[in-house]
Amino acid sequence: MSIAQSYPPSSPHIPVLLTPILDSVKPISGIWVDGTFGAGGYSRAILDAGADTLYAIDRDPEVFARAKKWAKDYDGRLKLIHGTFSDLDTHVKNAGTDLIDGVVLDIGVSSMQLDQAERGFSFMKDGPLDMRMGQSGMSAADIVNSVEEKVLADLIYLYGEERASRRIARNIVKSRENLKFETTFQLVKVIEASLPRPKPGQTHPATRTFQALRIAVNDELGQLVSGLRAAENILREGGLLAVVTFHSLEDRIVKRFIQARSGNNPRGNRYQPEKTNDIATFEKIGRKAIAANKDEINSNPRARSAKLRLARRLNTTSGEFSAFDIGLPKFNLGQLV
Ligand SMILES: C[S@@+](CC[C@H](N)C(=O)[O-])C[C@H]1O[C@@H](n2cnc3c(N)ncnc32)[C@H](O)[C@@H]1O
Repeated sequence: MSIAQSYPPSSPHIPVLLTPILDSVKPISGIWVDGTFGAGGYSRAILDAGADTLYAIDRDPEVFARAKKWAKDYDGRLKLIHGTFSDLDTHVKNAGTDLIDGVVLDIGVSSMQLDQAERGFSFMKDGPLDMRMGQSGMSAADIVNSVEEKVLADLIYLYGEERASRRIARNIVKSRENLKFETTFQLVKVIEASLPRPKPGQTHPATRTFQALRIAVNDELGQLVSGLRAAENILREGGLLAVVTFHSLEDRIVKRFIQARSGNNPRGNRYQPEKTNDIATFEKIGRKAIAANKDEINSNPRARSAKLRLARRLNTTSGEFSAFDIGLPKFNLGQLV
């Protein structure tokens, strides 16, 4: 049995692709950051593998109460921080550390967040249409009740890669004229009525629209770009960057970031020659993204779409890069609402 399948005991969330992360640095030592603490699966494994100190960041305040029982076993080596990983460099510097040895990010929602109907992440459970990981700011209901039809359609298309986005947005706007959206099932009903009934084996019709709203509510792609930049700012020479993503929009950003920062700027299109950066700040580890093997997928279906990308920090100063060049869609909900 792999480490990921058995680690940590009795966790409500099974960590994905943990074994290849631990295998990429042996022995593990020094100061690490887990930017997506969740149930603490990565944090505990990295501490148990030898890290001296680990800063564990999460934007969801609920995760820390859940960790209370076992966090004390680490005798002060585990430092819990409520915040976003987009500022991980600032959080760590404020805590008195200038350089770190590794950053892990396991992007997305946890099983605990999905399982709690009252968080509003799941189209399988009826609850308030919320989806805020940090439990503050604009909710998914605020977006579907206030955003104009065209912007809503663009959002569902860009962040959900939903081809029927225009039809869904039109029906949302029609429906909210009679009754404001408050619950997940209200929205699911409108989406189901907008799409053909799924054939056996096809994904639930609400999958893509719910993904789009979750990304928008939590500014997930903006967070990812800033988190990568922050990791570059604070990793020491030889330090590891490990990022696990669950859909193509996120993976594209991580892939292009590592490509651009390791000396090869992504091409604008396939007819342009590859551009070479004058400074390389990372060295890519492995040619391709790492996916879960059959055993891991069998014991944890969430691992099916996971991709892990790894890179090692080189001894250079940080440079600038454009978020749009590495795949951030040119769409800003904040300016358009
Ligand atoms: C997939 S879970 C991580 C699970 C964790 N690796 C484990 O083994 O238990 C993702 C977690 O990251 C948090 N998160 C997502 N985006 C974040 C962000 N931008 N900043 C901080 N935490 C974030 C979520 O609240 C959630 O708890």
